[in-house]
Amino acid sequence: MKIAVLEGSPNKNGSSNMLAGEFIRGAKEAGNEVTVIDTARADIHPCIGCIHCGYDGPCVQKDDVEEIRRQILGSDMLVFVTPLYYYGMSAQLKTLVDRFCAFNGSLQRKHMKSALISAAWNSDG
Ligand SMILES: Cc1cc2nc3c(=O)[nH]c(=O)nc-3n(C[C@H](O)[C@H](O)[C@H](O)COP(=O)(O)O)c2cc1C
Repeated sequence: MKIAVLEGSPNKNGSSNMLAGEFIRGAKEAGNEVTVIDTARADIHPCIGCIHCGYDGPCVQKDDVEEIRRQILGSDMLVFVTPLYYYGMSAQLKTLVDRFCAFNGSLQRKHMKSALISAAWNSDG
């Protein structure tokens, strides 16, 4: 199986990437092919909601998402990796998720497997 891991932490050696690293190690040991996409370091502009893409077409933004789109649609499974930021995903990962808009149709038709890996720490706990 081809797995795309979308890493969303700005801390390259932080907790969420450490968890992702263990997932990746196990996935590879089990014979899967893994592609890691570092959303915190990739050039990813925010969706501007123009819908020029028609939810399944070329995006007006010209950045790394053209290649990331190919990698995602070439995969069987998506793994979302994020630190918990105010009870949501990081802005870095969310910016990419919003850009799914331009391949929304293709993505839905694929019925991919998915998983969420997240690290959090709440000082009120
Ligand atoms: C901007 C920001 C918001 C955060 N919001 C939460 C939160 O809502 N709940 C929580 O338990 N931890 C929160 N945290 C703590 C992080 O989730 C925690 O430190 C996590 O381990 C960071 O992952 P990383 O090491 O991969 O960067 C927040 C941290 C930051 C920097």
